Amino acid sequence: MTSTPADPEAHFKQQAGEYAASLVLPGMVVGLGTGSTAIFATRKIGARLKAGDLRDIVAVATSRATDAAARALGLPMLTDDIPREIDITIDGADEVDPEVNLIKGGGGALLREKIVAQSSHRVVIVVDAEKLSPRLGTHWPLPVETLAFGWRSQVRFLENLGATVVPRPGQGDLFRTDQGNIILDSRFGPIDDPQALAGTLDARAGLVGHGLFIGMATDLVVAGEDGVRHIERSPRQATP
Ligand code: A5P
Repeated sequence: MTSTPADPEAHFKQQAGEYAASLVLPGMVVGLGTGSTAIFATRKIGARLKAGDLRDIVAVATSRATDAAARALGLPMLTDDIPREIDITIDGADEVDPEVNLIKGGGGALLREKIVAQSSHRVVIVVDAEKLSPRLGTHWPLPVETLAFGWRSQVRFLENLGATVVPRPGQGDLFRTDQGNIILDSRFGPIDDPQALAGTLDARAGLVGHGLFIGMATDLVVAGEDGVRHIERSPRQATP
């Protein structure tokens, strides 16, 4: 008889993260994602290094929080810049559509996550089955990162696109990203054409990022009641 874990969501996140950590091979440059699922991969990579099951890797983090956690685990970290090519990045997501397009940024690390992902040959997304969605925006608002300068004009811009916008609260004031920017959580509802919306947001001066990751994931690892599923797509050409 199999027993039900006390916290199934955390259990599935752990299963997905640890599975993905097994895809890391000796000598690789590894991107470390941010959030409560990706941290299980980071911890497992640390455990594999300690056990001698893995060697000669270097890692780059997608947030200050992940960088601190990885250093505490003894992972060799790159700091000042990201390398020309990253072999594999393991990261979480908030919502995943059937084409493995993503909404990311629930933890506010979307910009660094996208910078690391676009330099990665493999982008392995680790989620529990609750994150699967028929259409992006069904369950989750889209995080949009804006410069503080003129941020209210960006709220109006997003509202004109049809979103209900909530500036993300922080401690005592607005949340600030690792870059010192503001996040506007923008609820669009199910998004008909995520690629077109991404293009519109990319073209807007003052917006420095958004959580739509279109065509970036090469692998999806989903853990749920039925076990762990690994869906592989073609490796991408990393952008130099
Ligand atoms: C961080 O900014 C995010 O993109 C996370 O990767 C995403 O929110 C998933 O986080 P959890 O794994 O904590 O759900």
